[in-house]
Amino acid sequence: MRRDIFSTRLGLRRHFYTSLLSLLAWAFAPMSSAQSIDDVTLNVYKSETCGCCQGWIDHMTAHGYESTVFHPSDLNAVKDELGIKPEWQSCHTAVSKDGYLFEGHIPEKFIAQFLASPPADALGLAVPGMPIGGPGMEMGNRFTPYDILLIFKDGRSEVYASIASADEQH
Ligand code: CU
Ligand code: CU
Repeated sequence: MRRDIFSTRLGLRRHFYTSLLSLLAWAFAPMSSAQSIDDVTLNVYKSETCGCCQGWIDHMTAHGYESTVFHPSDLNAVKDELGIKPEWQSCHTAVSKDGYLFEGHIPEKFIAQFLASPPADALGLAVPGMPIGGPGMEMGNRFTPYDILLIFKDGRSEVYASIASADEQH
């Protein structure tokens, strides 16, 4: 029962954001860039009490993404099933409509870059752990440099981008 109410509220909220986005898209149409955000929706898996996860979701919402949030009872099982190796893991996992995975506090800028031209055999991107100063992990002016990993279906990974300062995230 609680779940039904929750789903309905989420539905209403999504409807609100969709309407708001349409309005914004209309208002800014003349100066919008070529890239469309219309169809970027994410399924986000996190634990119910994770505050930094919500911070990251808000960061994505501010950039026009729509998120459907799930609170699985066994988050690790979800990550295992999706093929996210332990060394890639963070607090939340986002899955795009096309099945690409975005693990952890990845700045939207790099998700947009990835989605514009996904490398062959890529599983997605990951920021392992929770670097301080990333989107959703803001703590004043503190910042810990970190790498965004490009992760592959066969278990390989390589550095997609090295983030040395907070400014490089925007
Ligand atoms: Cu986090
Ligand atoms: Cu998180």
